[in-house]
Amino acid sequence: MPHSSVHPTLPDALPDFARDPFAWLRSQAALAPVQRFRFGSLHGFMVGDPGVIIEVLRDIETFAKGPYAGQQGLGLMLGDGPVTSDGARWRGVRRILQPEWTAARAASAPSRFAPVLDDWCAGWDARADSGAPFDLLDDTRRWILRAVLREFLDDETCGGFEDLVEVVTRAEDGMGPAWLYLMANLSPAHVDRFRQGWTDGRARLDRVLYAIIDAQAASASTMVGRLLAGPALAEVEPLEPRRLLRDLIATIVLAGTGTTASALYWVLYLLALHPAASQRLRDELAADPPSAWSDVIDRNRYPWLDACVQETLRLYPSVWFFDRLTTRPTTLAGVDIPDGAVVLLSNYALHRQPTWFPSPDAFQPERFLAAPPVRGSYLPFGFGPRYCMGAPYALQEIAMASAAFVTRFDIDMGSGDPTPQLAATGGARPRKPVAATLRRRAGA
Ligand code: HEM
Repeated sequence: MPHSSVHPTLPDALPDFARDPFAWLRSQAALAPVQRFRFGSLHGFMVGDPGVIIEVLRDIETFAKGPYAGQQGLGLMLGDGPVTSDGARWRGVRRILQPEWTAARAASAPSRFAPVLDDWCAGWDARADSGAPFDLLDDTRRWILRAVLREFLDDETCGGFEDLVEVVTRAEDGMGPAWLYLMANLSPAHVDRFRQGWTDGRARLDRVLYAIIDAQAASASTMVGRLLAGPALAEVEPLEPRRLLRDLIATIVLAGTGTTASALYWVLYLLALHPAASQRLRDELAADPPSAWSDVIDRNRYPWLDACVQETLRLYPSVWFFDRLTTRPTTLAGVDIPDGAVVLLSNYALHRQPTWFPSPDAFQPERFLAAPPVRGSYLPFGFGPRYCMGAPYALQEIAMASAAFVTRFDIDMGSGDPTPQLAATGGARPRKPVAATLRRRAGA
């Protein structure tokens, strides 16, 4: 990990960060637009101002991806795909994926998600019949993984489905950005112990992904087949085009599953704990019944549904902090930042500042109906050239599944807390998981 300019008098923030990274991020973001920090031997800068955050995210030449994208963090699983690469390599992989990421494809994606959602609802019918409590986050993760596999790999089960579920779950639970910064201060022996688990997970993931690549190599109708038949992969990675393809698929599967699944989990959770908000959603859907679930992606037609999703992503952004590393000396809000400095940005902290969002801990979807958020204050999908490639897919799936479930089922989150805390994991997992039970709604 890089060590930026040393300020020996700066107090060590690592104990506070380790105790509660969310509280620490919030407190720092509130202090100043740009705030120096020290985690043990690592020094860096935390940016808390929307305008300065935009400045950082927009300038991808000065602010490259930080340590979390590196080989101790996401790079271990994702390799060198669009999330984890920089510079010419990043431009190359984005060029490869662009033809697979067209507006026409995004427009027809809801019709491919609809049959997955039908099967999912049938599964929930059976759960309602049994009345047995279940793990809602695990359930959303499994179904969203199915949807991602269907959308991008034309194969819903991929032989190694259970392996993929486990790797995705472990990657989220164990490889959060907070873990990475704590690890920067561990002894090499401890780091090796941590890494062994990830190396095993990577080997498991590779077995499944290379099996998919081999199975689909000859098929012109799949993304894998198309990319292997064309010149694009070899232009970026002449020696190992299959490995590059593996990194692209790993990125789509890992970046696309846990993020969307946790966002949907939190929408359903918050609606269950806020009956007036879910009743308003049912009323909105009943007043203008969609002829298919795909209709609900129209935000103008279903503004309350959209507001509920946006408010959930404000409170529980699936990616809750980003880091960057400076490639040259620069200045931010009058503060000199040296070359090689770690710069932390937290959309979680930003979304919970009362300056931008009054009563920041309350679930109040109506705030998104009143006026759009101040520019740069609301960034669940990032900003600028590295804005999330999957945002349209994720939002469509979350809207369709939320509308279908809220219409057809009452979800009981038992002893759930209306203002629950996040766990410091890679996805936005609840700190205290509670089991869900379902009841089918009359007439549904
Ligand atoms: C609710 C769901 C999702 C959330 C909250 C989310 C959030 C984010 C954020 C915040 C970034 C920017 C990170 C940074 O700047 O460091 C990002 C990038 C990315 N996301 Fe998502 N994401 C979601 C779903 C998806 C899906 C479904 C896919 C693909 C199927 C996906 C693929 C990507 C990719 C490829 C990038 C890298 C873009 C680049 O750097 O060029 N994401 N996502």
